[in-house]
This record gives sequence, C-alpha cells and structure tokens, in this order.
Amino acid sequence: MADILDLIKARRNIKQFLPKFVSWEKVAKIIDAARHAPSSGNVQNWKFIVVNEPGQKQVVAEAAYDQYEIVQAGVLIVVCALPEKAERYYGLRGERLYSPQNCAAAIQNMLLEAQSLGLGTRWIGGFDEEAIKAIFKIPEEVRPQAIIAIGYPKEIPPKPPKYPLENLVFFGSWRLRLRDPAKYYNDTATILARKAKAAKLSVQKAAQSVVDKVKKKVE
Ligand SMILES: Cc1cc2nc3c(=O)[nH]c(=O)nc-3n(C[C@H](O)[C@H](O)[C@H](O)COP(=O)(O)O)c2cc1C
Repeated sequence: MADILDLIKARRNIKQFLPKFVSWEKVAKIIDAARHAPSSGNVQNWKFIVVNEPGQKQVVAEAAYDQYEIVQAGVLIVVCALPEKAERYYGLRGERLYSPQNCAAAIQNMLLEAQSLGLGTRWIGGFDEEAIKAIFKIPEEVRPQAIIAIGYPKEIPPKPPKYPLENLVFFGSWRLRLRDPAKYYNDTATILARKAKAAKLSVQKAAQSVVDKVKKKVE
C-alpha cells in the first residue's frame, strides 16, 4: 500500500481524461471515503449526486463555464452541502464556515481514494450555481459546493509550484519564523540525529584526507 504522503504529493488536478469507463465499485469506494471525513459535530451535512450519462455531463460542463474536458471523465460527482443542518447547531458560523469546510474535507478524502485506485480527479469550483441547481432539481436550501470529475488521466500535468514549509509556518506568534524549529520544539531526537550525522561526516572527511596523504607518499 502506498504511503499517504506519497499519494498526497502525487495527486494532480487532471485536465484531460481518457474516454474510459469507471466501475461503480470504484465510485462507491470513493464516496465511502467521503463519508468517513470529519465534520463539525459529526453533522455530515453533505450529499453526493453521481452523473455518468454523457448528455448530462455535457450540460454540467456547460454550466461549469464550458469546461468541456470533464465530459470525457468516467463520472462526475456533485458534492452538495446542507448548510441549514450545520446552522441548527452552530448558527452563522455553521452555515458559512463549517459547511464548506465539512465538504472540503469530504472532497479531499475522495481525491485521495481515487488516487489510490489509480484514477485522476479534477476539482471544479467554477460553475453557475443556479444552473447546477436547476439541472439536478436541487432544493433551494441546498448548496452545490463542487463538481468532482473522476476518470483515467490522459496525461498527468507537471506539479505546480508549492510554497516551501519555511514560508508557511510561524512559531508561537504571527510572522515569527525560526532558523531551527527542532530547537523550539525541543525535539532532542532530531537534534541528536543531526549532530550524529555531522560527526559521521567529519570523521569520514578526516579519514579520507589521511588516505589521500598516504596515497601521495606512496606515489
Ligand atoms: C475551491 C477550488 C476550486 C477549483 N476550481 C477549479 C475549476 O473550476 N476548474 C479546474 O480545472 N480546477 C479547479 N480547481 C483545481 C485547482 O486549479 C488546482 O487544485 C490547483 O491548480 C493546484 O493544482 P494541483 O491540484 O494539481 O496541486 C479548484 C480547486 C479548488 C480547491
């Protein structure tokens, strides 16, 4: 089984798909992964609409501002939030903040499960919400959050640049960056391992210079 970090790093947003069938078994596994995502108070205020009929995929692509490449994907899954359910427990914060976060957690699980099954995914957030609601007869109070296109990639795009860790992490206070996070973290194991590595390198270097000197004398 692949390491989770390898899966995370290898996943790409796939633009073009091969016109190849994706089995229901795989689609079910992907939605099952979504089902196990965290959600605020375990409210699980999400629903998933499966689309694999070519004509319907075409209409969806149109509603997604003409992102027609998704018609080739084996299946589209429209992820919908039920914000009212989160609002009942958490008020405005539940409706506005937790609902999209819950769905985003579910979506990321789907992307990674698809990746582990050898499939590619494209996250579509750009679409006409009213048009999508009309296509699927989605009730007024429900909000489609994303369309996930899933299929066999035609090509894997190169990895786009990602910020390095040092750029993103502060320690204990906004903007506070540290040269040696292991020290702040009191991570003695890391510090000792680093010292041991440095010591090993310096011993190797010293040994090599002795060998070089002896070689020169022999010559
Ligand atoms: C909220 C959200 C909306 C997105 N909307 C679209 C979209 O409409 N069309 C598309 O092709 N990709 C869309 N993407 C995918 C991003 O463009 C993609 O994740 C980003 O370029 C980084 O590439 P990577 O996923 O391969 O790391 C969306 C991603 C997110 C998280």
